[in-house]
Amino acid sequence: MQYYEILFSPTGGTRKTADILMGTLAEKPVQVDLMDRETDFAAVPFTSEDICLAAVPSFAGRVPVPAAQRLEKMQGNGARIILMTVYGNRHYDDTLVELSDLLTQAGFRPVAAVAAVAEHSIDRRFAKGRPDADDRAELESFGKTIRRRLEEGECPALDLPGNRPYKALAPMLSKPLPNEDCAQCGTCAKVCPVDAIDPEDAANTDQNICASCMACQAACPNGGRQVPGPILEKLKAFLEPVCQGRKPNEFF
Ligand SMILES: Cc1cc2nc3c(=O)[nH]c(=O)nc-3n(C[C@H](O)[C@H](O)[C@H](O)COP(=O)(O)O)c2cc1C
Repeated sequence: MQYYEILFSPTGGTRKTADILMGTLAEKPVQVDLMDRETDFAAVPFTSEDICLAAVPSFAGRVPVPAAQRLEKMQGNGARIILMTVYGNRHYDDTLVELSDLLTQAGFRPVAAVAAVAEHSIDRRFAKGRPDADDRAELESFGKTIRRRLEEGECPALDLPGNRPYKALAPMLSKPLPNEDCAQCGTCAKVCPVDAIDPEDAANTDQNICASCMACQAACPNGGRQVPGPILEKLKAFLEPVCQGRKPNEFF
């Protein structure tokens, strides 16, 4: 029996949140990195004995497209799976139902689900500092509940919030480009999950391929990538009214 942590975490918030929950279940779970362009996801040898956690950020209320494409390839073989979406203090809309559908179709058995809050990766004023100590306590407490239920073999069917059909995929606008601090070090090209950035010329970024995930901006050691000013202002104006207050973590 093996524990797996399956993650798509462009800027680290999803990983931080998932690690807290996973820490209550297993010390060293096998890592499956959905950001990785090279992994053969169909070849991960899940069995019906295994317990997995799959965590993705919510992008415009949906599973990020590259993560969905990679999850679809996996063969769950009846492994039990905890679903997690991490959102930036607006809402996660249909992300959990979509994640549940994707993983069920891939042969996993969903046993629990979480929607948790972490800093908004486009505008870090929202959910600043989260997950914080209160979030940690809630996540750890839920992890213990899951552990007990798994031991007792008692996992009722999940009733998750969200709609089918899912909300339409929105055009993603947060596409960072190099600024004057870019040193052409190639870090951005290495971390990009979809190979949108030319490793020899960071300005040569394919906007059609870019998933707007912000991994390149977060990884740049020089602060050398940013979303162009007018677009960022537009995104901030959209987020400002809908990201107010402290949004809850939800457990299913
Ligand atoms: C393109 C994009 C779309 C996003 N859409 C939403 C959203 O619909 N609702 C929300 O609350 N947060 C949204 N966020 C914020 C992320 O879900 C949140 O910051 C998450 O913690 C990012 O995970 P990461 O740190 O692992 O990259 C979005 C972020 C990006 C980059």
